[in-house]
Amino acid sequence: MLQMERTLVLVKPDGVQRQLTGRVIGVFERRGLKIVGLKLIRITPDLAGRHYAEHRDKPFFQGLVDFITSGPVVAMVIEGKNCIAVVREMMGATDPQKAASATIRGRYGIDIGRNVVHSSDSLESSNREIALFFKQEELLDYTLDIQKWVYE
Ligand code: RTP
Ligand code: MG
Repeated sequence: MLQMERTLVLVKPDGVQRQLTGRVIGVFERRGLKIVGLKLIRITPDLAGRHYAEHRDKPFFQGLVDFITSGPVVAMVIEGKNCIAVVREMMGATDPQKAASATIRGRYGIDIGRNVVHSSDSLESSNREIALFFKQEELLDYTLDIQKWVYE
């Protein structure tokens, strides 16, 4: 039985400005993961504060909010087997200097405050974050025709 999960991914303002959106989406598509929601948005300070609530007391919080609200982001919900952990692994360590070179951050990032992508870090976070960014009707239920070639 497939253990399907959903996770929230953001291409952060640096990724959008550097025109890495297509490459980032392509990395997930080529893995066989399914996009069930996708949009280009400008995050408001209110949404940023709620999204990053766990970091409210950290010294980097204000800089993080200023950055994530500084330009458009691409928000998407990705679905796949065990995909919360799989996508975190594909993204690489928070600090791109420590990220494995085959990961998105390892390939495209150099500075911790400009690390190109976000993804949910647990089932609890993914449920919370998906609800913050997407309405239920913006998430589509459909079957990818390639599914039988991705999953046994
Ligand atoms: P994200 O939430 O963006 O997916 O990143 P993450 O889980 O890998 O890292 P997290 O600990 O949640 O931190 C959120 C973002 O804050 C910035 N950060 N700066 N200067 C610092 O020490 C520091 N630590 C974290 C990073 O941009 C990180 O993505
Ligand atoms: Mg995080």
